[in-house]
Amino acid sequence: MSIVALILAAGQGTRLKSKLPKVLHPLAGRALIHYAIDAAQAAAGARPVLVVGHGADDVRAAVGARAGFVEQAEQLGTGHAVLQGRAALGGHVADVLVTYGDMPLLRAETLQALVERRRASQAAIALLTIDSAGLFDFGRVIRASDDGVTAVVEVAQATPAQLALPERNVGAYCFDGAWLWEALERLPLSPKGEYYLTDAVALAVADGRRVEAVKTGDEAETIGINTRAQLAQAEAALRQRVNAAWMTAGVTLVDPATTYIAPTVTIGPDTVIAPNTHLQGATTIGAECEIGPNSVIVDTTIGDRCVVRQSLLESAWLAEDVDVGPFAHLRSGARLERGVHMGNFGEVKNATLGPGVKMGHFSYIGDAQIGSEANISAGTITCNYDGVKKNKTVLGERVFLGSNTLLVAPVTLGDDSQTGAGSVVTRDIPANMLALGVPARVVRERAPESAPHGEGKAQAQPDSAPTER
Ligand code: UD1
Ligand code: CA
Repeated sequence: MSIVALILAAGQGTRLKSKLPKVLHPLAGRALIHYAIDAAQAAAGARPVLVVGHGADDVRAAVGARAGFVEQAEQLGTGHAVLQGRAALGGHVADVLVTYGDMPLLRAETLQALVERRRASQAAIALLTIDSAGLFDFGRVIRASDDGVTAVVEVAQATPAQLALPERNVGAYCFDGAWLWEALERLPLSPKGEYYLTDAVALAVADGRRVEAVKTGDEAETIGINTRAQLAQAEAALRQRVNAAWMTAGVTLVDPATTYIAPTVTIGPDTVIAPNTHLQGATTIGAECEIGPNSVIVDTTIGDRCVVRQSLLESAWLAEDVDVGPFAHLRSGARLERGVHMGNFGEVKNATLGPGVKMGHFSYIGDAQIGSEANISAGTITCNYDGVKKNKTVLGERVFLGSNTLLVAPVTLGDDSQTGAGSVVTRDIPANMLALGVPARVVRERAPESAPHGEGKAQAQPDSAPTER
């Protein structure tokens, strides 16, 4: 017994006043339509089909292979929209799920409940409803004295008595596939000149078939995006849902109201997220971490027991026991191995800091490979860009840089080498050697006792002229 899902997404979304088609507006960083596709895919166990119209090319491009497509050239109503799916879905199909592409918080489990109810009752239609005093614009669900659903009446056609009824049509349906397609051709034209899918309810009853209603108690599921205000409402409802799930999973959110976790993010137990923290994209955070406050973390992987304070991390990777910030900026390709300490006002891009590296203050490390236990003193800068291309800096293990060292790439510093404060390193430094000055020259072997405060002893010589060795 197969299930297919059809998602209606041909409408314009006029009230958003946007160049972007409605279903491509982002919710928690992802286009609205993807939420509808997720739910439909999970409930049907197969790729859904999208009815597209306004902005069809853009919607197709954004959705790609996640759905099939049929086109509704003219928007003649929701019933007409479903009929466009006939050729693609017609065949011998038991259940046809229909949802609207602008209802991002509808759950897959709710759609499954519609399928189960329709099958159990052999109804022609199972539709989702909610009892609500609000939601004025929603169609009213009319029931007979035996409680069976007999019609859905749109607000424009409803009598005052019908308008006063509490049960609303949410806009998600499971149809008997053997009945649906032929019935859609019999839909009447509405006074507005459209074919309403909701009129299929009265048709089914006239055909002597049952119509069942499944009630949801979760008002978030009913949020449809017609306006920017509803977009913000959906954002808040989704945030609440995601945050509640993480707290249940053992994550502490100090202030859920100011914690912004995209649905794509994962977090380990006993991690504490402080206020005003934004976790976005394909971000993964381990267990027992302390994240925030005031941090933005995008597409980043963070291992267990890490600390990130007041920082921006983008496409970075952190092993375990790493601490970062405040005011650190990790950019694409930053890799911080186990136990790295990166303090305030540092930037790392396309560079690996090996295990135990310390980089306490005011440094830029780009296009570099830093060996384990190296010490990046205050003010270190990799001069990685020569105006044409990026060049690489390589530091061996336990290298000790004096404050304000400039590393003019490409350049390599051997294991256990050292620079004096203010050095401008333009040539490689062999292992174990101390270099200093502008440009830096090798002066002697690094004294064993020089670490960890060697930069004080090895004085830079700013007046030394450049000399060839
Ligand atoms: C619809 C329901 C209403 C329900 C409400 C819940 C109908 C007739 N009414 O009304 O009972 O309470 O949703 O939000 O279905 N679309 C197309 N092609 C069309 C027309 C619409 O693809 O020709 C799409 C729209 O893009 C949208 C969805 O169908 O995603 C719903 O259409 P909309 O016009 O918003 O229906 P409502 O008036 O909200
Ligand atoms: Ca609507």
